[in-house]
Amino acid sequence: MLKILKFTVAAVAILFVGVQFIRPARINQPIAEGQSIEARIPVTPEAEAVLNRSCRDCHSNRTEWPWYSHVAPMSWLVIDHVNHGRRRLNFSDWSRYDRRESQQLLKAICRTAKRGEMPLDSYTLIHRQAKLSTEDVQALCDWAQSEGQRLASAQGK
Ligand code: HEC
Repeated sequence: MLKILKFTVAAVAILFVGVQFIRPARINQPIAEGQSIEARIPVTPEAEAVLNRSCRDCHSNRTEWPWYSHVAPMSWLVIDHVNHGRRRLNFSDWSRYDRRESQQLLKAICRTAKRGEMPLDSYTLIHRQAKLSTEDVQALCDWAQSEGQRLASAQGK
C-alpha cells in the first residue's frame, strides 16, 4: 500500500515538473498609443475605470501576468483565456475595427456585463475586485450605448 502511495506521489511530482516545459508564449504586443480605444473614441472616466479594473487583463495588450501564469497547468488556462479574449476584443488595437464592428463590440460589452458573462467567473474567483457592481454595469452600459448611438448617427445612414 505504502509502495503504491509513494509511486503515485513520485509520478505526480515528475508529471508536474515535466509539464512545466510546455510553455505557451505570454506575449504583450507593444502598445501603439494612437490605436487604443481611448485614442479612437471618447471613453468616460467611469467606464474607463471599470475596463481597466475588470477587463484589461484579457482584452488588451496591457495584461498583468499573475505568478500562476508561469505554472503549468494553470498557465495554459490563463494564456488561452487571454489569447481568446484579445482575439474577440482588444482595447489596445481598437483602430482595426471599422465603425460597424465598433458598434457591435460596444453593444456586446454592455450585454456581456449585464448578463454577468464577463469578466469570466474563473477570473473573478481570484480577482475579487474585478467583480462588477450594479453601478459598474450601469457605467459601462451608459457609455457604450451613448457612444454606439454617436457612431450610428455619425455614419449618416
Ligand atoms: C479572464 C479573462 C477575461 C476577462 C477578465 C474578461 N473577458 Fe471578455 N472574453 C474573454 C474570452 C476568453 C472571450 C472569448 C469567449 C468566446 O470566444 O467564446 C471574451 C469575449 C468577450 C466579448 C465578445 C463576446 C461576443 O459575444 O462577441 C466581449 C464583448 C467581452 N469579452 C467583454 C468583456 C468585458 C466588458 C469585460 C470586463 C467587464 C471582460 N470581457 C473581461 C475573457 C475575458
